[in-house]
Amino acid sequence: MEIGKVHMDTLNGDRAAIVEDAITSRRSIRRFLDTPVPRELISHLLSVAGRAPSGSNIQPWRVYVMDGEKKAALVNALLASLAEGPPDYPREYNYYPLEFPEPYLARRRACGWGLYSALGIERGKNERMAAQHGRNYAFFDAPVGMIFTIDDFLQPGSWLDYGMFLQSIMVAARGYGLHTCAQAAFATYHKTIREQLSIPNGQTIICGMSLGYADPDAPENAFTPDREPVEAYTTFVD
Ligand SMILES: Cc1cc2nc3c(=O)[nH]c(=O)nc-3n(C[C@H](O)[C@H](O)[C@H](O)COP(=O)(O)O)c2cc1C
Repeated sequence: MEIGKVHMDTLNGDRAAIVEDAITSRRSIRRFLDTPVPRELISHLLSVAGRAPSGSNIQPWRVYVMDGEKKAALVNALLASLAEGPPDYPREYNYYPLEFPEPYLARRRACGWGLYSALGIERGKNERMAAQHGRNYAFFDAPVGMIFTIDDFLQPGSWLDYGMFLQSIMVAARGYGLHTCAQAAFATYHKTIREQLSIPNGQTIICGMSLGYADPDAPENAFTPDREPVEAYTTFVD
């Protein structure tokens, strides 16, 4: 598979550098170019990601890929649902706790304000913030949108497996100069998505993902959130 492959050729075969570059150059991109991504390449990325580990190799992932009219139809339906206001039905699962204790609250706020300040959105400009949030449902203009589901009866262990699959897609994409954004925002409007994509009952809609080439001039793409130092979350136990 040679389509668009960039990183492997530029790093002189240094395996650590190649792997680390793929991981650390991944970041959430929130404005994409309309350059198409060949289906063969999308399939290839999903097959690479399918090598992700899962307990007893049960491979709990199910992926719905859209790169044409169906994506446009889903985006229209989601934007219509968004315009109607918050859904009048419950979530399928809670991504976040209902109340955020520290240190998570401060990190969450820093992330939100970091993005808004990159976009020049000042505090209190709720309409602009809502508009930026709404761009989630247009897959940030990416040529490829994906929706991920999992069978309802599977347990938290399988959600652990699922995260590895999602990260593997995002990292594999970097080898081809592609970028991504994982998006739990889609889970809010699970009914609209289920209807549009004919997703059977019995599958929970976990999240979506945008995939494509980053718009290098978009201010929102310049936002790179910090990370805690290793010492903040690691204990070497002697
Ligand atoms: C499962 C998951 C769901 C996410 N959902 C959204 C989302 O709905 N909208 C969004 O703009 N970013 C979303 N993000 C991106 C996070 O905000 C981002 O990963 C975090 O701020 C770290 O930034 P980075 O990905 O650029 O390193 C999500 C990330 C993950 C892993």
